Amino acid sequence: MSKTTAAITAVGGYVPKFVMTNNMLEEMVDTNDEWIVSRTGIKERRVLKPEEGEGTSYLAIKAAEDLIQKKNIDPKEIDLVIIATATPDSMVASTAAFVASEIGAVNAFAYDLLAACSSFLFGMSTAASYIESGRYKKVLLIGADKMSSIIDYTDRTTCIIFGDGAGAALFEPNEEGLGLQDEYLRSDGTGRQFLGMDAGGSLMPATEETVKNRKHFIYQEGKTVFKFAVSNMADVAERIMQRNNLEDTDVSWLVPHQANKRIIDATANRMGLDNSKVLMNIERYGNTTSATLPLLLADFESKFKKGDNLVFAAFGGGFTWGSIYLKWAY
Ligand code: UT7
Repeated sequence: MSKTTAAITAVGGYVPKFVMTNNMLEEMVDTNDEWIVSRTGIKERRVLKPEEGEGTSYLAIKAAEDLIQKKNIDPKEIDLVIIATATPDSMVASTAAFVASEIGAVNAFAYDLLAACSSFLFGMSTAASYIESGRYKKVLLIGADKMSSIIDYTDRTTCIIFGDGAGAALFEPNEEGLGLQDEYLRSDGTGRQFLGMDAGGSLMPATEETVKNRKHFIYQEGKTVFKFAVSNMADVAERIMQRNNLEDTDVSWLVPHQANKRIIDATANRMGLDNSKVLMNIERYGNTTSATLPLLLADFESKFKKGDNLVFAAFGGGFTWGSIYLKWAY
């Protein structure tokens, strides 16, 4: 009997309507379009404005609805909804539970998964495990982040990078050996000092002081994070290739976290990949944290062919990082 694998059978995506260009940021902080484009590859990003909708759940619902409508599935058949996010609607109450109810997945259980920019990548492993074990048949994994809710728009080192967005992928059993093939996932807690948000958690609950000192915004030591990201993302992607005997010609697509074009280029270089195989939309969306990988899938879905070899790679706060090898199933 062949082993049941976990395949992605549908994808969806959503970005908010408001486009924040580099020129707009020039009005807010001491920066310029040339610096942002040459250092990051970002030209514009999306921001969710209250007049359109509120909370990460709004973005997640839109992405899920896009998937449900395209695949024409009955949401009542979904067994589990996982929301990969670093910006849940609120602490404590599960954002995923709300999203599941709103999209009509009334028979599903739901929870959030948080691993910074690696949330969706780690969520792929979680979703696939439920399918491979035979426990569930339809797992909806959504990567969604409203990064603008934790961005300090007076801090030029972070506000130029991040944007809002969401993407969704449905995992189902496959009997042809397609879907998730291998994963190499890592973390290193000594990295938490370099990228994170100081206040609002149990370590530093909100006080007047924390608000005054802008501790509820994300901060990062860009250079340090950059160095870790460049070497680690390339290392794990190379390792996944080696242990699955994949040559550069065997890889159809690199699906890399969209944090910085220079990090993506370095990873592709190490893998020996031609530019044409490297998926990128960073110029339009910036770094949408948990949404970068599924938004790439949604944007480039029409290019994929059944059996294509996709290598995912991500790096994020914590530190968390890793790579996944997946065979496209449709
Ligand atoms: O997704 C989670 C993981 N996150 C990442 O992977 C992000 C990793 N880090 C990065 O992408 C980059 O480090 C940044 C894009 C954040 C910064 O680029 P960099 O090339 O590392 O710049 P830097 O921090 O070394 O700064 C170079 C110069 C500095 O000026 P001096 O000291 O050379 O005079 C900065 O003050 O650029 C200055 N600078 C800016 N100038 C214009 C920093 N931010 C800006 C800005 N506009 N927005």
